[in-house]
Amino acid sequence: MAVLVVVGAQWGDEGKGGVVDHLATQAQVVARYQGGTNTGHTVVNDRGTFRLHLVPAGIFDPEITCVIGSGVVIDPGELLEEIGQLTSVGVSVERLMVSDRAHVVMPYHPILDRLEEAERGAANLGTTLRGVGPAYEDKVARCGVRMCDLIDEVVLREQVKELVARKNKLLTVYYGQAPLNVDEVYEQCRDYGQRLKPHVTDTSVLLHKAICHHQNVLIEGAQATLLDLDYGTYPYVTSSSPTAGGAAAGLGIGPTRIDRVLGVFKAYITRVGAGPFPTEQINEIGQELRERGGEYGTTTGRPRRCGWFDAVAARHAVRINGMDAAAITKLDVLDDFPSIHICTAYRLDGEVIDYVPASLAAYSRCEPIWETLAGWQASTSDARSLADLPVNAQRYLSCLSDLIGCPIDLVSVGSHRRQTIVVRSSFG
Ligand code: IMP
Ligand code: MG
Repeated sequence: MAVLVVVGAQWGDEGKGGVVDHLATQAQVVARYQGGTNTGHTVVNDRGTFRLHLVPAGIFDPEITCVIGSGVVIDPGELLEEIGQLTSVGVSVERLMVSDRAHVVMPYHPILDRLEEAERGAANLGTTLRGVGPAYEDKVARCGVRMCDLIDEVVLREQVKELVARKNKLLTVYYGQAPLNVDEVYEQCRDYGQRLKPHVTDTSVLLHKAICHHQNVLIEGAQATLLDLDYGTYPYVTSSSPTAGGAAAGLGIGPTRIDRVLGVFKAYITRVGAGPFPTEQINEIGQELRERGGEYGTTTGRPRRCGWFDAVAARHAVRINGMDAAAITKLDVLDDFPSIHICTAYRLDGEVIDYVPASLAAYSRCEPIWETLAGWQASTSDARSLADLPVNAQRYLSCLSDLIGCPIDLVSVGSHRRQTIVVRSSFG
């Protein structure tokens, strides 16, 4: 029985949704600790294909309690929409619990996200425009609305009155936009709050009880290590802490309660949005990875930038997260390549380095040093054990494991739950 954190180890979209869906069969609780509707999990299971932004992937199992922790920012309209989508195909959301301390993405946050991005001009971050960054800005500026406020009509009225007045100054005077109507914002938020009320509770108490009862708690990160506010490629990052350290704060459990950390890597790497990306392939290789891997954003539909596996960035992720094990996803995407490259170090201004530089300018100048392996040019999608894989695919995996200094628990060879090779149990 364990508390397991699953984190994205690259720039997001590693296939955490599928890994969590697979591991959830062994868990009693699945919890999310940061991010908002900027993320998207595509879950393919026997009930169909689901694109979820807020609801944890564990929702499909009626025995699992799903928690949205205080570190998540919640767009209530979107959450209600996902609840509607699930209930319409008979998936019960009775066990979906939302932290009363989680902050709300208010109607003005997506507007501000758009305006802030436009103001950045050519230096825009390529955000998902979901209002996630502005909601976290207000949380830190101590002018946020929390779920406990959203469900309290009296408190909400006061907050909306004051906050919309403040935002209207910003919208009209600074950005030259039309003001928002206080009553309309209030009515909409009140309606959202009342409909979500049955789900709102102190989730840290719930998690504490689950841990005391020795249940398996599966904690899923959104986004990923290289998008982490502190340890990612700042300022081309998201506004929260997707790394394992964020899990304790974002759920209200002590770090001593976390037993294991599993990092999810794609067998190659992608990035959506702007920012440095040393192993990016702006050529036919990148194009082939994108088409074979279906690399288009779940949330925004944007084509993802694609490149070869970056072992330097991977080791950074292993260290920052204290990773115990890795899951390697989408190995099948590499099936047709005659040769496969891995970046083992960077060259920066003529020097060989083995770290991710803090300086954006320095990171943008890093060039990959490659190791080349022979491809396997055979289908892996029916493999259910390591031994089923072509020898060169096995070699590729053991090379990755050696380079990142971390054992591999899981390998996925397709998007269906069945297409997972279990090397070791991740719950320990
Ligand atoms: P924001 O989180 O919408 O503010 O976007 C900031 C950066 O994080 C942009 O480069 C986004 O493309 C990226 N980002 C945010 N969420 C995800 C995700 O779930 N997967 C991949 N990239 C993401
Ligand atoms: Mg995603």
